[in-house]
Amino acid sequence: MEKPYVFPRRASIDKPLRIAVLISGSGSGLNALLNYQQDPRAHITKLIISDNINAKGLKYGYDNNIATKSIPLPDISDKNRQRILHEGLINIELINSEIELIVLSGYMRIFTPSFVAKWKGRIINIHPSLLPDFPGAHAHRDVIRSGVKISGCTVHLVDFGVDTGMILAQKEVEIISGETIQTLQDKIKKIEHEIYPKVLDLLCEGQYHPIS
Ligand code: GRF
Repeated sequence: MEKPYVFPRRASIDKPLRIAVLISGSGSGLNALLNYQQDPRAHITKLIISDNINAKGLKYGYDNNIATKSIPLPDISDKNRQRILHEGLINIELINSEIELIVLSGYMRIFTPSFVAKWKGRIINIHPSLLPDFPGAHAHRDVIRSGVKISGCTVHLVDFGVDTGMILAQKEVEIISGETIQTLQDKIKKIEHEIYPKVLDLLCEGQYHPIS
């Protein structure tokens, strides 16, 4: 039987959920979230991790005095071991910072099933398409090639697949004639920056929890 989602505890502004944000690149989503968290919320960013030591988004962590770590892949040739060791290093930081929810925001690596199993229900991702359509690392390119007229973004819990997992929210954008990967990406990032913090509010306040 598939491992069930274990949701984070119900948090509040008085006792916010301690979150880690994982990035690989420009970190515009991280920046939007940190701006949103300038007001008290049911979640607070306590740790930022990038697998890419040159990720531009790392600056948002330093500027906001949040614990910020670059954790690149260890330099070993066995790919399997490399992944496992890397996730082990990340997990140590998560545990040391008493993290309760992992927020993927442009993190470009796929976790192993054993890592997901530890955190299932407490890893959330945002993907720039209307899942289950156009999963993977080239969503905008694939959307434009396909000729569809609507795209958007999806916030979902992470499970053992690639961009699968329980969908928490989606928002659409229209694709106009002459749309390029860049214009579509810019348009979708704008809505992502609005939707992701709000979905985090709902998740942290317990609104997605199964009725018991
Ligand atoms: C976002 O479009 C997100 O959906 C995808 O990666 C992009 C990250 O952008 N997973 P940024 O690094 O937050 O600017």
